[in-house]
Amino acid sequence: MQRIAVVGSINMDLVVTADRIPLAGETLAGQTVRHYPGGKGANQAVAAARLGGIVQMFGCVGEDANGEALLRNLTAAGVDISCVLRRSGVPTGMAFITAAQTDNTIVIIAGANACVTPAYLEAQQAALLQADIFLLQNEIPQESNDYIIRLASKYGKTVILNPAPARPIAIELLDLVRYFTPNEHEARLIFRAGAFGDERAGEDTCEVGNGTSDEPAVDASNGKLPERTRDQADLKKILRRFPEQVIVTQGAQGVRTALHNGDILHIPAYPAQVVDTTGAGDTFNGALACALAQGRVLPEALAYANAAASCATEHAGAQVGMPNHAEVLERLGQVEPDAAERIDHTLG
Ligand code: RIB
Repeated sequence: MQRIAVVGSINMDLVVTADRIPLAGETLAGQTVRHYPGGKGANQAVAAARLGGIVQMFGCVGEDANGEALLRNLTAAGVDISCVLRRSGVPTGMAFITAAQTDNTIVIIAGANACVTPAYLEAQQAALLQADIFLLQNEIPQESNDYIIRLASKYGKTVILNPAPARPIAIELLDLVRYFTPNEHEARLIFRAGAFGDERAGEDTCEVGNGTSDEPAVDASNGKLPERTRDQADLKKILRRFPEQVIVTQGAQGVRTALHNGDILHIPAYPAQVVDTTGAGDTFNGALACALAQGRVLPEALAYANAAASCATEHAGAQVGMPNHAEVLERLGQVEPDAAERIDHTLG
């Protein structure tokens, strides 16, 4: 089994539940408020460890009660925290989450996560190089991710970058990332018109409305592609430009990547009794790292990660519902083998 290093954020999540997400300027009465362990880095580390991965966490917390509790939580989950630093004079990172029905909004305060600098990573280099797979997100400084991506490339290691929250990445760095896993919203922001020297994907010339969609290719009223059709064309173009590298998660729509022959591989989402989607993306990424560490090929690893993510949505809190290996296998067994992975003709 390969070893996984998660370099990323460790947060305490303060979660309030309400009937719906408040509008700008609106005050709403909520129902409950709770603390949960979180942070995209820590969540992904816990997800991978719970599935049997050998996981070491690299990050920082403050010398406060939250930091103490979060380190205990990581240890209990089986994550090696020997390189996590406690920094004085800064608070542990926090996330303020409003959870409403199956939706949420999140505001994060970086706190000690901002201390995950290249200097800190440089000091951890010997431990970092014990890993085979690096799992990154965007809740630590960009230059720290850049440092890890270059280090991994130099030593022939695999990098999975989950670009959440979305921020730009230089094409020469993206080229060094083996798997890049935005959700649809992040993909749209990162691969916006003109990014990486492209024209807007699909504008006017894309092959849509060819019988696979019930929407016309061009809206007669304004001569433009309807939004949903254009989004699909954009996604197809992004995926095909980075085959088996860019993997777009789409929540209830499952996950898509392009194969080297240009086909779009679509792994549908598994049925779930959704309670809270917070941490579902993190479970997907942690499980993907774990499945690759176990030697699974990409389509299998994606199906495994997708099943794990669906289990995670059935409990409140980012880490509470993260499944173990047996639970993922059970979920995989609930779906006809042929339905778990198929070529997507709606985008092709
Ligand atoms: O992806 C969910 C996570 O995002 C939460 O746990 C919160 O800490 C934020 O980082």
